[in-house]
Amino acid sequence: MNPLKLIIPFAALYIIGGATVAAEIVNISTPRTSLVLDAEKGGALKILHYGDRLTDADIATLKDAGAINRDAYPVYGIFPQSEAALSVTHADGNMTTDVEVVDVTSAPGADGSTVTTVAMRDKVYPFNVNVNYRTYPGEDVIETWVDLSNNEKGTVKLNRFMSGYLPVRYGDVWLSQLYGSWANEGKVDEAPLTHGVKMIKNKDGVRNSHTSHAEVMLSLDGKAQENAGRVIGAALCYPGNYKVMIDTDDSDYHHFFAGINEENSTYNLKKGESFKTPELALTYSDEGLSGVSRNFHRWGRNYRLHAGNKERKILLNSWEGVYFAINEDVMAGMMEDIASMGGELFVMDDGWFGDKYPRDVDNSSLGDWVVDTRKLPNGIDGLLATAKKNGVKFGIWIEPEMTNSVSELYEKHPEYIIKAPNREATMGRGGTQLVLDMANPKVQDIVFTIVDTLMTKYPEIDYIKWDANAPIMDHGSQYLTADNQSHLYIDYHRGLEKTLDRIRAAHPDVTIQACASGGGRANWGILPWFDEFWVSDNNDALQRVYMQWGTSYFFPAIAMASHISASPNHQTFRRIPVKFRADVAMSGRLGLEMQPKDMNEEDKAVCRQAIADYKKIRPVVQFGDIYRLVSPYDGKGIASLMYVTPEKDEAVFYWWKIETFMNQQLPRVTMAGLDPDKMYKVTELNRIDNEPLPYEGKTFSGRYLMSNGLEMPLTYKVDYHKNTDFASRVLRLQEVK
Ligand code: GLA
Repeated sequence: MNPLKLIIPFAALYIIGGATVAAEIVNISTPRTSLVLDAEKGGALKILHYGDRLTDADIATLKDAGAINRDAYPVYGIFPQSEAALSVTHADGNMTTDVEVVDVTSAPGADGSTVTTVAMRDKVYPFNVNVNYRTYPGEDVIETWVDLSNNEKGTVKLNRFMSGYLPVRYGDVWLSQLYGSWANEGKVDEAPLTHGVKMIKNKDGVRNSHTSHAEVMLSLDGKAQENAGRVIGAALCYPGNYKVMIDTDDSDYHHFFAGINEENSTYNLKKGESFKTPELALTYSDEGLSGVSRNFHRWGRNYRLHAGNKERKILLNSWEGVYFAINEDVMAGMMEDIASMGGELFVMDDGWFGDKYPRDVDNSSLGDWVVDTRKLPNGIDGLLATAKKNGVKFGIWIEPEMTNSVSELYEKHPEYIIKAPNREATMGRGGTQLVLDMANPKVQDIVFTIVDTLMTKYPEIDYIKWDANAPIMDHGSQYLTADNQSHLYIDYHRGLEKTLDRIRAAHPDVTIQACASGGGRANWGILPWFDEFWVSDNNDALQRVYMQWGTSYFFPAIAMASHISASPNHQTFRRIPVKFRADVAMSGRLGLEMQPKDMNEEDKAVCRQAIADYKKIRPVVQFGDIYRLVSPYDGKGIASLMYVTPEKDEAVFYWWKIETFMNQQLPRVTMAGLDPDKMYKVTELNRIDNEPLPYEGKTFSGRYLMSNGLEMPLTYKVDYHKNTDFASRVLRLQEVK
């Protein structure tokens, strides 16, 4: 069915194809949701409904039921006491804006999507505000963004320019957000909305998801539940500074706004110029938080994540194994080891480059992307040959947006860095790291050339880990004019996006990971160019259960790089048996991050088994629907989730015991997302017990599994020395006909 349909209760007005009509009621429907607008020409654009899909009959009587009927994109000036999505200073200094609908159009997008545009114009000034809504066939996500254009006599100052606004009916509404910090990303924070303004924001400049995230969920029926209740999800697709704001005032609504963080970013829009805000992706589900996650994941894989429908390889990354101690023999050893364990890709991390200034620690060489031939005498060609010999692919680490004051690049071009006029530049990592000014087209060329040269010289490179280890540390662009210094944060990301567009046009197939001191780039705004992101520099499996739990609210497993690392862990120093580490890593995009030479044969065997087992379930994990079952945040001693194929013929169930006390009473976990009438055979993966679980190979109905679940033993039946305080299980469920 056409996702876009116009319903006109009182007048015969239609959108047909891309034709323009004087519309009244605009119904933007997805399979299970509706956004209904009143867009009468000459009037204000009003939102009447966002939530479950409405019938034509309900839409016809919506206003009588007490529809929302608030401005769909509130602008500042008339009744200025309310928060607004848009605030501008017109060319003549007038600070008020007052817009009316002039047109509603609908046009097909290149990717099968449909874009509905409500064109609005200020009643007095030639200043246009076009609000757009994009839907995709089969997806329950609506993207909204705004195009602003200035035809006034002079420059219009954009003071606030949010991507979208949504009024949410006042009530027992709970906000779920992610919060954290480096090595502790993606922590779930849930609380009811109270009066006043709740603001979530970022000002890092370069990365934007270490602390707060630009994605939230609003549970409309009280405290959030995983698999029940009405929930709205919102994800701002923007990799730069953002602001998410919910104003609960004395009206009957919580006012939700999301967009670029306008602080210190006033944008001067010259006559004839236009400005496009980033997209805000909205979704709704009556199947709880997990329902919203599934909507985001499906839409993301199909339309947003780069190569979202291509399986990801199982890799070994060199970082925690050897850090900067890279050389040809060590790399060759690691390639051989990952190949022997069944892995498919080896990634050489930081430390391989620098000629005049070799990169032996973190205080030099960024920008000098030439092989350090002391470490790698046969260069990348040599490494590629070794990879080929071992039957694995090869990947490489770069940090292209950065330089160090100790580098040949900086020596030649000090004017390329971000720095405030008349002041010394602030240095980051290693006491020397500097951020290149992506607003500068010459810097954009340099960054493009780094990737283009690598990929042109070595087309066999299969994977790039693209890091970004510094924030903007001084507000100052040596490229932007004095009166446009406030464009820095926005133009940085415009420059980055342009560069990434060029890179992807030239090199569409290379897998690229967005890393940013760990999880600094988990955002849908960056993922159109990236295949995955690094969740965190913290690989501690126990803490990963929490971090990956939160991250999965908005991002699919295929995009979440999740590695088995050494024990004791390098960040927390916790000792966790390899079985648990593998069972956690297997719930995302599986990889390894340690020196295999340091592993004993027993641990290696577990990893080998995990890799083999992961290959069997990879399509279910990477393309399946998530059902989170028991949250680690609920203090029940366990965490559990599962992935189910859309056809419901196969599933993977994960169970992690996250604390250990004697005679502990743990809840039995009921499953979700299965077909009640299908029969499923249960097979344990990553098994280490000497004897199988009682239900190994047995068959159960989806109905039984969803109302009773299976009993999980608290420990393993293994030889005494193998028992530990950790326990976890991964079960594969396959339909038996
Ligand atoms: C960052 C990344 C790490 C690693 C180092 C290399 O911290 O998050 O994974 O690549 O840089 O310097």
